[in-house]
Amino acid sequence: MTDGPIYHMSSTPIPDPGAPLRDSLVRQSRVLEAARAIVSVFDAYQAQFRLVTRRAEARFLRRDWQGGQQDAAERLTLYRQFVSWCVQDLRRSLGDATGDVALWSVLRQAYAREAMTRLDVELAYTFFNSVVRQVLKASGPEAGVYFDDREFQRLPPPFSSQVLRRYPGGRSLEALLRELLGDLPFGAAYAGRDEDAALIARRIAEELARGPGGAALEAIEIVPTPFYRNKGAYLVGRLVMGERTLPLVLPMVHDERGLRVDAVLSTADDVSVVFSFTRSYFHVELDCPRAMVDFLRSLMPRKPLDELYTSLGYHKHGKTELVRALLRHMEAHDARFEVAEGDKGLVMAVFALPTLNVVFKIIKDRFGPPKQTTRQQVMDKYNLVFVRDRVGRLADAQEFEGLAFARDSFAPELLEELRADCANTVLTDGDRVFLRHLYTERRVIPLNLYLRQVDELHAVEAVLDYGQAIKDLAAANIFTGDMLLKNFGVTRHGRVIFYDYDELCLLTECNFREIPAARNDDDEYSAEPWFSVGEHDVFPEEFRAFLTLPGRPGQAFMASHGDLLTVEYWRRMQQLAEKGEVVDIFPYRPSRRLR
Ligand SMILES: Nc1ncnc2c1ncn2[C@@H]1O[C@H](COP(=O)(O)OP(=O)(O)O)[C@@H](O)[C@H]1O
Ligand SMILES: [Mg+2]
Repeated sequence: MTDGPIYHMSSTPIPDPGAPLRDSLVRQSRVLEAARAIVSVFDAYQAQFRLVTRRAEARFLRRDWQGGQQDAAERLTLYRQFVSWCVQDLRRSLGDATGDVALWSVLRQAYAREAMTRLDVELAYTFFNSVVRQVLKASGPEAGVYFDDREFQRLPPPFSSQVLRRYPGGRSLEALLRELLGDLPFGAAYAGRDEDAALIARRIAEELARGPGGAALEAIEIVPTPFYRNKGAYLVGRLVMGERTLPLVLPMVHDERGLRVDAVLSTADDVSVVFSFTRSYFHVELDCPRAMVDFLRSLMPRKPLDELYTSLGYHKHGKTELVRALLRHMEAHDARFEVAEGDKGLVMAVFALPTLNVVFKIIKDRFGPPKQTTRQQVMDKYNLVFVRDRVGRLADAQEFEGLAFARDSFAPELLEELRADCANTVLTDGDRVFLRHLYTERRVIPLNLYLRQVDELHAVEAVLDYGQAIKDLAAANIFTGDMLLKNFGVTRHGRVIFYDYDELCLLTECNFREIPAARNDDDEYSAEPWFSVGEHDVFPEEFRAFLTLPGRPGQAFMASHGDLLTVEYWRRMQQLAEKGEVVDIFPYRPSRRLR
């Protein structure tokens, strides 16, 4: 059907009683066509996402770790690519009508009807929202154009029951585990499975003996496909003892000695660390992400929904869930944004809600001395962290554009600060505040504050982990740049992580140097260095200024991590990084390992 202009031979138009009906049918069919076009691009996106995800199994079997890292990076680029293809497509087919807000509101309803019964409907809604955002950029968020909280709430519960495979008890635990491990997609490559079954059975029996007596193991339920990440494959499931269940995660490794289960994790805390916001996203093929997220939440009740989606690689939908949680939280608690606790940054203005574990970071218009970086460079650093392995030590930052809140959601002194330091990004209009760009991160306790609050024992533990964090990052070819305590934080699980990225760079980009000996007294006492310093020069001796900590914690730190002050240490790590070997720092304690 064409809908071009109709030319009449006569100058007086001939009345056509069917015209309004025909026009509306034309419009309807265009809307339906457009809705289906978006669905099909979303389908193509999901197909490509699966294709890349599916490669993980073969990479793990071949120990092709570099290939795995390429896949991870490739998968992160897909979303933006497909959204932009979709927008181009629509612009071609809808022409001038593309920017018509009224059209999008009908389109959304048509799309909802098309997507409603999908197993991944929530992701499909988020995809639509991304497309609308691109298309209606100039118009801003219009009511009725996006899928909002109400629409997500209205979704029926997921109906896929295929999340878990059940291995009933009533036999020896070892026999059960032999069957379970035998069903894994590793075939002959997994020669040691009987030995593993025996070791795991012993561990689980110990764990069960520790729990309340009486309850026998009824079954082990497990997600049939492993969750892949870096050099690990994780079997995720639970132990079922009647009403009671315990999480069960079996991390697997594959090295020169072969393929094997490396550890047994059976507490919510242990599992939560595996699914941490400081790790790269898993590669696991799913039909129904919602059903999987529901299951994961039953294992880790404290983990926010958005982080679970994100951990599975659905970080865009993770953002949807984060905003939903944020808005609901603000309403329920009548909460207001306030300046974040801790030392203020030179680059970022940081704020938070007192009762939600999220911080909001806005790049300031200008950076105080001695910072010489630009806004674009800061964004590049945050992107670098986004695409790289975060090795359990870097907080994942999600990027948002164009968020709007009521003015009274901001404490007055915060709004004052934002308007003074971030006027290019924070716009106020009547009683609305528009934030053009920001990052969100999980809120942790800044290490400088933490050390003031805790007793000596905890302080020693924290500073040792602080040194270990710097070393873990170095092993992954990352140099934090700014090592001050205030740029590190402590998670709920007591792990020390880093969150200030504007000076972060690859270890292999740095030039680690000794400070040259002074030639004379003038050199020694001059305020300026007496030797020339290149842009990438780093002098580990200078770290003494901030790695020297008072008291017992300081002594403990120097005893374990004094090598951080030496050029040899950094050059050695640099050489390792240059070899291009992929390092994986496993997310569990040595005591959980089987061997
Ligand atoms: N994830 C976080 N959790 C808790 N506080 C944070 C977090 N990120 C930043 N902050 C607080 O905000 C301050 C400034 O943030 P930072 O990322 O260090 O930016 P800058 O580069 O400007 O120093 C930090 O010193 C800390 O007190
Ligand atoms: Mg800082």
